[in-house]
Amino acid sequence: MHAPCLRRTIWTWGSSSARTLHSGRAAFHTTKSLSSRPPASNHHDTPHPAPRFGEHRHDAHATSHQRHIRHEPPRPRRIVIGITGATGTVYAIRILEILRQLGVETHLVISKWALATMKYETSLSEAEIRGMASKTYTAKDLSAPIASGSFQHDGMIIVPCSMKTLAAVRSGFCDDLISRAADVSLKEDRRLVLAVRETPLSDIHLDNMLFLRRAGATIFPPVPAFYTRPASLEDLVDQTAGRMLDSMGIHTDGFERWEGFQRQPAAGSASRRRTAAAINDGHDAESEVPKASMGAAA
Ligand SMILES: Cc1cc2nc3c(=O)[nH]c(=O)nc-3n(C[C@H](O)[C@H](O)[C@H](O)COP(=O)(O)O)c2cc1C
Repeated sequence: MHAPCLRRTIWTWGSSSARTLHSGRAAFHTTKSLSSRPPASNHHDTPHPAPRFGEHRHDAHATSHQRHIRHEPPRPRRIVIGITGATGTVYAIRILEILRQLGVETHLVISKWALATMKYETSLSEAEIRGMASKTYTAKDLSAPIASGSFQHDGMIIVPCSMKTLAAVRSGFCDDLISRAADVSLKEDRRLVLAVRETPLSDIHLDNMLFLRRAGATIFPPVPAFYTRPASLEDLVDQTAGRMLDSMGIHTDGFERWEGFQRQPAAGSASRRRTAAAINDGHDAESEVPKASMGAAA
């Protein structure tokens, strides 16, 4: 897709022995003629033999076919974020804040119903939320770079993910940019995290989640953990946002990680101090909770 942005060049074969080179959209229909191209070793019809590997051609007649090809230059880490109309915009906002602090490039899409929902859930305006991202798009813009597999990124998270968008991604019926970018992430074997939010869950919701899990997505309902004794809503959000980023391969120290029961309180950790106090207060952790199940708590 995105024909106007294509930099691809394509050989065509005219009736004469001379090759003609077309580039971009005008020549796109000629792809089929590639199959009629003679083997690479057949140089009888070209005055410019192909350069050897690593050799750069400088003459004015060099074609892009013969041009030296280089790796793409290094780029910052790049994450796509979709916000849909389920409740829980606050997780997306926290993730945007963290990724900005980490210098990660973010590409943000907000659905129409997310815009409606977020008005009730946050005091931030749409412009302020968009301002946290490196690039933003409307959900209608199916010409955005993230709608194409040729645009390279390091994964996508839909947070929160509504049951409607979940169903769209599951079925492959992707008529907005969030579901399309998710569809592309799956087909390109890139990370896709779906912070699905609904309760209770119907057969249809569960079936869609299982299907997408098997297709390679991570299903991440934003369900809080309480073993860190969160002191505030921020603590809960930080823990869940941090664990979502773990699923994206981005590991931060912005929340407390489970390291087993601690007999000595860790400095600076209020919740860890509380945990240790509870253990020391007549609860012998090792006798009550087998080690294996403690390890599984995270
Ligand atoms: C205040 C509010 C809260 C909502 N919460 C949820 C929710 O938690 N989960 C869900 O699947 N849909 C929820 N919805 C419904 C979705 O917004 C609706 O299904 C919408 O079509 C989703 O479209 P989208 O995925 O393109 O954003 C909520 C709607 C409103 C107005």
